[in-house]
Amino acid sequence: MDIGEFREFGKAAVDYIADYFETIRNRPVLPEIKPGYMEDLIPAEAPLEGESWKEVLEDLDRVIMPGITHWQSPNFHAFYPTACSFPGIVGEMLSAGFGCMGLSWIASPAYTELEVLTMNWLGKLIGLPEEFLNCSQGPGGGVIQGSASEVTFIALLAAKEKKVTDLKAQGTSLTEAEIKGKLIAYSSDQSNSSVEKAGLLGSMPMRLLPTDESGVLRATVLANAIKEDREKGLIPCYVVANLGTTPTCAFDSLEELGPICQKEELWLHVDAAYAGTAFVCPEYRYLNNGVEYADSFNFNPHKWMLVNFDCSAMWVKNAKYLVEAFNVERIYLKDQHKGMAPEYRHWQISLGRRFRALKLWFVLRIYGVEGIQKHVRHQIALAKYFEELVSGDDRFEVCSSSMGLICFKLKGDDTLSEKLLENVGKRKMIFCIAGHHNHKFCIRFAVCSRLTERKDVIFAWNEFKEAADEIFEVKNQTPKIIDEVSEKKMNEMRISTRSETMCQEKTK
Ligand SMILES: Cc1ncc(COP(=O)(O)O)c(C=O)c1O
Repeated sequence: MDIGEFREFGKAAVDYIADYFETIRNRPVLPEIKPGYMEDLIPAEAPLEGESWKEVLEDLDRVIMPGITHWQSPNFHAFYPTACSFPGIVGEMLSAGFGCMGLSWIASPAYTELEVLTMNWLGKLIGLPEEFLNCSQGPGGGVIQGSASEVTFIALLAAKEKKVTDLKAQGTSLTEAEIKGKLIAYSSDQSNSSVEKAGLLGSMPMRLLPTDESGVLRATVLANAIKEDREKGLIPCYVVANLGTTPTCAFDSLEELGPICQKEELWLHVDAAYAGTAFVCPEYRYLNNGVEYADSFNFNPHKWMLVNFDCSAMWVKNAKYLVEAFNVERIYLKDQHKGMAPEYRHWQISLGRRFRALKLWFVLRIYGVEGIQKHVRHQIALAKYFEELVSGDDRFEVCSSSMGLICFKLKGDDTLSEKLLENVGKRKMIFCIAGHHNHKFCIRFAVCSRLTERKDVIFAWNEFKEAADEIFEVKNQTPKIIDEVSEKKMNEMRISTRSETMCQEKTK
């Protein structure tokens, strides 16, 4: 492919993405295909001779689109948001275009320098204490990792390093292997699966402690667990506090857990993967009170902050423990800039580094702080509106409401809500997933897409209401919210579902 063809191909691809966004609202959010659908659509062997880019691009509609789950659709309400914004997309494109590998400062100085500066911007934006920032005088700093899962694991390895160093300095009679064999970590039973995984990968048992009725890990529960383990001869080492749990977006209190970690000399890591973005708005920062007790803090701009995946922001108070845990030098990695700029390869697992800071920089500059605040407040307001709609129907109950996530259920037996979700799922007009609240089944409704508007919330609510009417066999007893725009949207979607199915049948 020569430069001229690249220009054409690239421009056509941007047009394709723009068309996709223009039509996304009318696409059924979930695909209609069955596992293995693609085998019939592409040959079993790679082509011997190169094909034209036009042929390849045309195949997106035939092969790929039928199997896409439309995460950016305004009807996608599952999991948590996965950010996708135009500045973020262009940032990704340009970074691919530079094609550098940022394994050291000299490998591409702009990579490191922009990451240092944007992580300072971002840390200030969410109100992190100065000591976490690269621009502070101390050993703290921020780095962009690939995912919150990676960060929880990396922080665990740093905590392990610190504990071994500290115990040796205190003159322990235990060997390093003996210390490592006794280490234990804590989080709550509401924490993300990645927290338990970090314990497995890092060979440190992770105790998932019970939470209160709001999904919050209380200080006494943590303190008792630590005491119990010390009595067994174990060495408590690492605590993961959740600010915005995956099931219900519950917030642990850092002011409660922090002093225990400080007294017991445990590394406190904060997982704010989704909800950390809300701290861009001053009115939500109180939920981060006590962050000064943390040793490491993480949130994902690639979830709620409009920066395309992957971009997971991590700050540590003392980068020394990361560097000591991960520093492996080789002659080919030596450069003369030691100490002048962070060598981020020592802060992460892989050697190579992507230019993630570019898309972060684009998003911060093009949206501005106000644009991001507006996005967060808008999505929270939409979730509140959905909550109002649920509360207004006495067959339903709201289980929890936090940020852009509402958990709700049908009153009565769990099987009713399970059936409700199943029926809504079969219609494929919106996508929601199940959760648990206080050991009871609930449905999670998350405002995910930046395109979601009030009419989409009404549309989603009508889907639930109609499915509930079917369950109670009292069709139309509760009047549907009539909103002209959402009615029109419903009809358009039905037409487009029909034509998409016809299209797929033709391809078969
Ligand atoms: C609270 C929390 N922590 C961690 C994760 C994992 O995030 P990642 O996919 O970046 O590893 C999630 C994912 O939704 C989450 O909700």
